[in-house]
Amino acid sequence: PHGPVIAVDGPAAAGKGTLAKKLAQELGLPYLDTGLLYRAVARLALDAGQDPSGPAENFAEHLTQQDMARKDLRTPDVAQAASKVAAQPAVRQALVETQRRFAAERGAVLDGRDIGTAIFPNADVKLFITASPATRALRRYMQMQGNPAAPDAGEKLAEMEATLKARDAADSSRAAAPLQVAADAKVIETDHLSAEAVLALALAYTRERL
Ligand code: C5P
Repeated sequence: PHGPVIAVDGPAAAGKGTLAKKLAQELGLPYLDTGLLYRAVARLALDAGQDPSGPAENFAEHLTQQDMARKDLRTPDVAQAASKVAAQPAVRQALVETQRRFAAERGAVLDGRDIGTAIFPNADVKLFITASPATRALRRYMQMQGNPAAPDAGEKLAEMEATLKARDAADSSRAAAPLQVAADAKVIETDHLSAEAVLALALAYTRERL
């Protein structure tokens, strides 16, 4: 790529998206939420009446901007289904070039699970953002409280934590590009940090390396 690549990986609801978006703004780089790719593939499989564990690479191969811009990608059902399509090597393979091309011209900040380990193993900066399952569930729960129209607003805190843990376990134990900390990643534990503090840490670390 002709610009810096910043990989932001970590488990579900750790605050990767919030951080990656702000980092991109601060650094003047394009931003890609790679989870949306898998969510869009899952949505198409569900719409086709297909079990998301069944072959879904045809959807990945023909993914469009419109598929990614749909407003119904952030539901718990789609998240679960995304984790299932994401376990398929052929689906992941079909999305590799899309992600690399995104960063080719100007560099980019990308958030996901395997950016620093598989998509950009030579990324200029690798951040791994994490927090305990209890903290992550609580943060998501609080977000939902403020938004009664949110798709999972009715979910109970304990249910949310159980669902997050199950999805992380599936993402970490799959054979194809599992969620894991890259050897050269900076791990930021965010349990006791505000979003502003995480941004400040990440920005300082990144600027030292660019
Ligand atoms: O980050 P988000 O919750 O939107 O991701 C949805 C699912 O997509 C994850 O649970 C994971 O299985 C998959 N994913 C992935 N690799 C990425 C981004 C997301 O496998 N880079």
